[in-house]
Amino acid sequence: MELLDAINLRHSTRAYLTDAPSKEIFEGLMAAAARAPCAFNRQPWRFTVIVNRDLLDAISVGAKSYMTRARPLDLPESLYQKLSDPAFHVFYRAPALIVISAAAQGPWIEADGALAAANLMLAAQAQGLGSCWIGLSQPFLATPAGRALAQLPENETPVAPVIVGWPAQTGTPTPRQPVVARWII
Ligand SMILES: Cc1cc2nc3c(=O)[nH]c(=O)nc-3n(C[C@H](O)[C@H](O)[C@H](O)COP(=O)(O)O)c2cc1C
Repeated sequence: MELLDAINLRHSTRAYLTDAPSKEIFEGLMAAAARAPCAFNRQPWRFTVIVNRDLLDAISVGAKSYMTRARPLDLPESLYQKLSDPAFHVFYRAPALIVISAAAQGPWIEADGALAAANLMLAAQAQGLGSCWIGLSQPFLATPAGRALAQLPENETPVAPVIVGWPAQTGTPTPRQPVVARWII
């Protein structure tokens, strides 16, 4: 798939087939992620690939509980109601979660991780895979309980949790507003 097609067709996928992609596919996605630009070429990203169904369920339960209890983000009330719904799975029962974390401190680790995540999601799209950044899991993954479940070392900051898998149905790109640009000539 051409790069611009991948960019234009990518969309967040929220329904997945059960089977996880192969190890080789994950390795390719992470290699693409690691091609992202990053501040000082420090390459702070680390990848944790979780394909254990019980663990994904446990992180979803933990994230929902933490989000509703601690309310670490200023979210609309409707989202808190969704998080309280026992049927809601923050990972949409995707077969895999790739947590991109930063093994460094500094002003640009969030940007570095986000750029890596964008590469990863575009590489996924190029192979017919679906993906979605799950920000709702991020605050929990940074807690001791979340870190323990995801086996994140103490020196790493979770930056971008991205689910990946084969989409359950063909999706379409999410509409965008017209580009707002200011030209100075
Ligand atoms: C930082 C960030 C956090 C996000 N968190 C969630 C999330 O927790 N759950 C979810 O379903 N989608 C999440 N998304 C996906 C966005 O909702 C989605 O990218 C946006 O609606 C645009 O749709 P598109 O990705 O299909 O183009 C997140 C995206 C980003 C970039």
